[in-house]
Amino acid sequence: MIQEVIVTTQNNSGLAHLAPMGIHSNGDEFIILPFRPSTTLNNLLESKTAVLNYCDDVRVFAGCLTGRRDWPLRAAEKIKGQVLQCALAHTELELLRIEDDPTRPRLFCKAVHTVNHAPFKGFNRAQYSVLEAAILISRLDWLPLAKIETEIDYLRIGFEKTAGDREVEAWGWLMTVIEKFKAEAKV
Ligand SMILES: Cc1cc2nc3c(=O)[nH]c(=O)nc-3n(C[C@H](O)[C@H](O)[C@H](O)COP(=O)(O)O)c2cc1C
Repeated sequence: MIQEVIVTTQNNSGLAHLAPMGIHSNGDEFIILPFRPSTTLNNLLESKTAVLNYCDDVRVFAGCLTGRRDWPLRAAEKIKGQVLQCALAHTELELLRIEDDPTRPRLFCKAVHTVNHAPFKGFNRAQYSVLEAAILISRLDWLPLAKIETEIDYLRIGFEKTAGDREVEAWGWLMTVIEKFKAEAKV
């Protein structure tokens, strides 16, 4: 299964980095697949650790894609690393091995510690819409604009029916990026 999480990593100086990533999970084993170039990849190779943050505040996902990476963090419990304060739960990872690749290396990790912080309150369609729109924005440079617009129109249906304040804010950040991209491309 692939889980959409916020990966926190840090370099040897302790500088933290947040990135949304789709993580392959199988029990206590996880594979992180960063596209090169990637700060997450560099940090993981330096520190050999990472934290998976299970987070229902989609502003963090949209924020990381729109220049808003400054979310409150605190120290991890068993590894050198940082935990997202708004995470519902988190898993601390150690790097086991890497299968290198010029495009997308595979980083095999094992869970060493998992903590629950708050209850999961159920699925929300607007959160799905924001995640999908954030992925589209991460691919703005290589997906056809017509495809992006068609998909956004579909995602807007569930978004408008179910969004709360956090989803509205996140969606707004993403739509601003698309509008700016279109204006610059003079579409
Ligand atoms: C829901 C979601 C899942 C993503 N999954 C991945 C992924 O598996 N690998 C990846 O390289 N980027 C993924 N991205 C895009 C990255 O978050 C973004 O490009 C980020 O800047 C990665 O580069 P970094 O490690 O330098 O921060 C995803 C984005 C979103 C919104």
